[in-house]
Amino acid sequence: GRDVNRRDALKAGGVALGGLGALAMTNASARAEPWSWSPQGSVAGQGAGADPRTVWDPEADAVIANVLERHNVNRINAELRTWVRNGQEVPSGLPAELRDFIEYARILPPWTDHNKLAGGFEFTKKQGTIISVLYAFASGMMSTVIPNEARAVYYSKGGQFFKDRIAKTAKLGYDIGTVNAYAPDGQMTVTCVKTRMIHAAVRHLLPQSPHWPKQYVPISQDDLMVTWHSLPTTIMANLTKWGVPASRHESQGYLHTWQVCGHLLGIRDEYLPASWREANVQSTQVLKPVLAPTREGIRLADDLLRLGNELDLTLLSKPILGAFTRFILGDKIANWIRVPREPVWSPLLEVSWAPYLAVRQGVLNVAPPMDNAYWMFDEFLRQFVLWYMSELRMPISIELPQHNRHF
Ligand code: HEM
Repeated sequence: GRDVNRRDALKAGGVALGGLGALAMTNASARAEPWSWSPQGSVAGQGAGADPRTVWDPEADAVIANVLERHNVNRINAELRTWVRNGQEVPSGLPAELRDFIEYARILPPWTDHNKLAGGFEFTKKQGTIISVLYAFASGMMSTVIPNEARAVYYSKGGQFFKDRIAKTAKLGYDIGTVNAYAPDGQMTVTCVKTRMIHAAVRHLLPQSPHWPKQYVPISQDDLMVTWHSLPTTIMANLTKWGVPASRHESQGYLHTWQVCGHLLGIRDEYLPASWREANVQSTQVLKPVLAPTREGIRLADDLLRLGNELDLTLLSKPILGAFTRFILGDKIANWIRVPREPVWSPLLEVSWAPYLAVRQGVLNVAPPMDNAYWMFDEFLRQFVLWYMSELRMPISIELPQHNRHF
């Protein structure tokens, strides 16, 4: 009798927990403070000031919902595969309403400044390797402690085909750093518009998942800005902390590449910060307070740290990738996602990473007594770039999902 009771109690507990989880999720975001960031600090310089938690992407959402419900999505994805370069015509085989949307969505914002974009490229040319390390260990790993994002990724198709998803995300990080990112022969505009369409598809599909509360539509403008700050704002903060030099032209340019990206992803101009100062203010309000562990995020973090296992690159083992994560995101977040300290690499990073970067930048020209560390970091970066480039070598096509994760 006692066993049955215990089993029943466990079952009841499970149900109650499930209910609580769903309730917590409908609470959308853990930001307790009302939205107070002024649109005067945005690239638009003005706006109605609506809380971005109440705004999604109506233009894309209506079109994509209709496409998913009424059209042959396999055929549409086959057409989208042929649309690669920014200057290319939109494939004629797409339904007219989707073509019209793409023609509208691909237009660069009127405030695009090509001189600034050139500065952004200068920065990537000089610091590309360190920036891509930060995309992976600052932004990528941080996404696992942004509850709304971690849950959306986990319960969508991308959570199931995770390696594929990472390759597609890596493509965006690569495209934004190319010399012609937003020019006719580049690919970033196409990547952004496709991603905007994917996000609209996720808004349509996720509420149909039995694991998702129906009334909660994912990827609000607030969610988009939270994730945006996990990218450029977080990366610039780390580069500054590490003393990586950036001229004004480079730093303004890097910000601008991400402002244009945000616009093309469907973020309203009134939410996109006009300056690093405004970005930091907004990030403190929207990103910092929502960071928290979730069951889903812990699983995704584990998947991410195992991605390096597949190639024969000895320094990309889970413990070493974990050490970088702990070093960059700090002990609190590393503990949340159960990434332990690594006995060799953790102290090595704490003591020698900053001097290593200074030597690498030519800021210090005499290497302090750290030959071994210097070699290890060089070798790590070499293997990291090999891995990253191998992810990008296969043809990557960002396509509309037609279902959620299957369990
Ligand atoms: C898909 C980038 C914000 C959830 C994608 C893809 C990219 C991307 C490149 C395509 C990858 C693929 O097709 O698998 C970005 C960027 C963002 C952003 C640059 C902000 C600046 C968000 C936010 C959420 C989110 C805020 C959730 C709260 C997803 C999901 C998918 C996706 C669920 C689809 C995965 C799938 O089922 O295939 N995103 N994203 N994203 N994104 Fe985002």
